[in-house]
Amino acid sequence: MASIISIASGKGGVGKSVVAANLSVLLAQQGKQVVLADLDTGGADCHVLVGLLNPPLTLTDYLNHGVDRLIDVAQPLPIHPNLRIIPGTGDTLATANMPYAQKKRLIRQFQDIEADVIVVDIGAGCSYHTLDFFLMADYHVAVATPDPTSVLDLYRFIKLAAIRRVLSMFITRDVMAEGLANRDYSSVKEVLDVAGKTDTSGRTLAETTLQAFQPALILNRATGRARVNVSQLKALLKEYVGGNLMLLGEIPDDPAMEQAVRAYVPVVLHAPASPAAAALNRTTEALLQLLNNPSSKAA
Ligand SMILES: Nc1ncnc2c1ncn2[C@@H]1O[C@H](COP(=O)(O)OP(=O)(O)OP(=O)(O)O)[C@@H](O)[C@H]1O
Ligand SMILES: [Mg+2]
Repeated sequence: MASIISIASGKGGVGKSVVAANLSVLLAQQGKQVVLADLDTGGADCHVLVGLLNPPLTLTDYLNHGVDRLIDVAQPLPIHPNLRIIPGTGDTLATANMPYAQKKRLIRQFQDIEADVIVVDIGAGCSYHTLDFFLMADYHVAVATPDPTSVLDLYRFIKLAAIRRVLSMFITRDVMAEGLANRDYSSVKEVLDVAGKTDTSGRTLAETTLQAFQPALILNRATGRARVNVSQLKALLKEYVGGNLMLLGEIPDDPAMEQAVRAYVPVVLHAPASPAAAALNRTTEALLQLLNNPSSKAA
């Protein structure tokens, strides 16, 4: 079965799609069969970043039942023979706000995709759809820039993803847990306290689930002046969320990135010698190490 890597962020415009597109190309160059899936249902644009300006099929064709299987929407890309794309949707209000059952069906379809790796670009924000698409993956990657608002949104996103993960685990385990899930939570501690009251093993189970949640961080648009205190962020997440955050890569702010976007070609192909491309290569190496280490896969 394919390894699913989800790429998300709290704040929009931080570079999720360029990171997803470039990592997909580099993984394909490493011999992996890759599918780049665009699940940013509000602002799908990955296809443009890889040069497919008018995709003949998109996720809309699957969601509107014109195409039976999600994999049938995947299209080869001329930029690499190992790379296919599932172009996103968002052209209609219905597809941008798909009902719960449709989302479940879509998530299940990912299990049937034959590939080595599926890279999923997820929309910004903390809606249930965004969190559930993020959490369906085996490897969770969050992108942030050094901008303080981006770091705050990243913290909020990871906290809410952790809460959603614990609640989903309780729901699949026990119908009684509906009561647990039907409340609103602002902190992980609150969830743990309520989980502890549900049954005796509740708190331990919730804590184990949180510890197994180990999202990876890609810092984008880093400059000499604008950096993030990653150890402080890690400590904050450890204390208030529970899991470990791992720094997967740091990509510099680089005009070659913007030029590549304007040329509809991923920067690793458009300007392979650029600082951004070099950093994306290093990030892919770190990602391959994760993929080769089954213990780092989300439970
Ligand atoms: N490292 C970088 N250096 C310079 N410019 C960058 C860099 N990363 C991204 N950009 C610029 O930021 C723009 C937005 O990137 P991208 O579309 O990947 O963000 P996003 O997080 O996917 O946005 P959205 O939330 O709208 O989906 C790109 O078009 C590019 O011009
Ligand atoms: Mg995007």
